[in-house]
Amino acid sequence: MKQLNIIPNPNKIDYLGGSVKMENIDSESFSARLTDKLPEEGYVLEVTENGVEATAGGERGAFYASQTLKQLKQLDICPCVRIEDAPAFEYRAFMLDCARHMTTVENIKKLIDAAALVKMNTMHWHLTDDQGWRIEIKKYPELTRVGSVRGETLIGHHHTSSEYDKTPHGGYYTQKQIREIVKYAADRYITVIPEIELPGHAVAALTSYPWLGCKGEGYEVRRRWGISKEVFCPGKETTFEFLQNVFAEVLELFPSEFIHIGGDECPKDSWKQCPLCQERIRTEGLKDEFELQSYTVRRMEKWLREHGRKIIGWDEILEGGVSPTATVMSWRGSKGGIAAAKAGNHVIMAPNVHCYLDYYQTKTPTKEPMAIGGYVPMRKVYELDPYDQLTPGERAYILGVQGNLWTEYIATFPHLKHMLLPRLAAIAEVGWSYDRKDFDDFKHRMNSLRKCYDAAGLN
Ligand code: ACM
Ligand code: ZN
Repeated sequence: MKQLNIIPNPNKIDYLGGSVKMENIDSESFSARLTDKLPEEGYVLEVTENGVEATAGGERGAFYASQTLKQLKQLDICPCVRIEDAPAFEYRAFMLDCARHMTTVENIKKLIDAAALVKMNTMHWHLTDDQGWRIEIKKYPELTRVGSVRGETLIGHHHTSSEYDKTPHGGYYTQKQIREIVKYAADRYITVIPEIELPGHAVAALTSYPWLGCKGEGYEVRRRWGISKEVFCPGKETTFEFLQNVFAEVLELFPSEFIHIGGDECPKDSWKQCPLCQERIRTEGLKDEFELQSYTVRRMEKWLREHGRKIIGWDEILEGGVSPTATVMSWRGSKGGIAAAKAGNHVIMAPNVHCYLDYYQTKTPTKEPMAIGGYVPMRKVYELDPYDQLTPGERAYILGVQGNLWTEYIATFPHLKHMLLPRLAAIAEVGWSYDRKDFDDFKHRMNSLRKCYDAAGLN
């Protein structure tokens, strides 16, 4: 009998005997009966000579039943089966960096389709950075008029190159386009979480409105990769007014429970020189610049909480003291996530050594397009253990997993798909099938998923 090749690997497949011609199955007009006996995202799908029947814990489960059916439709003849499934983790995501390189609304929709096919439920959208501001904010038009355009882009690797392409790179998403993407994703049970970076990775904003920085002048949307010492000035009240006004518009566009505030890679150099930042440290009784970063994040968290939202921050938000209600996204390995879970904070695991989809995926980088570095083949993604070293009690704080696609070195959509799609499936299987992973079997099943990707125009 033909074995079913489904990704993520279902919890239980019972072969009922006999088989069905899939051309006779109408997967479009499919509907599932809802039951409170299954979890919200869980489902039972039966494919027999009599047709398709499904029950689900909720609309999400019903949708996942339909995605499984979509994978089965790749078969001409399908054995009669009963499939029962539910995800291991409630948060299963991919992050798309559109600040370094923009991609079109149509392309983002294709990626959402691919994520839905492997039953992910979140897209983390990185929209602002040193090299470009990509979200229209009506109150601050300079953010997109000025901040969305860098004069040119580095050619080659930022560790070694000082050559530029002499071609401006710009663009942004209008609020109308953002609503369109959020709706498209929601129709596929994918929540879009926006990331607006603070207090670092802010040079595009500073170039648009120089009063946002400590020095107050001389900024330029960054043309090379790496980390800038120019960051938001938390010594000024006007900086917080700006951020709150920006978030007020962001909240109108994104209904997500979580808002990502960045928090990573914020050098403290400019704060050490800035009289206003030093005064803030004194008046707030802070110990040092790390506590000033923590003050900034906590103040924004308080404002967002008052507006009904929770924050996610990169693991640097642990430095200088993290708020107990912040969710920590562990990226510098798993250690930040482990520390956060032990302290009772919620955690999303995205450790670079398993989850950075901008890293090389083979041992022969010379045969791949240039990447930022690293080595994260599919097997390495698959080996991720989001519960790394945690006790059963601490495991409850791990919300889930995420693959990150940074786009410094990824300028075209074919390249983006090459980096994202194979490894996205491995992340999905960690998120859905934690307790039933088998890499050789997964590789075998990938051959079938490839056909689905092809059918969706995602070669
Ligand atoms: C990061 O990769 N800087 C979160
Ligand atoms: Zn300052």
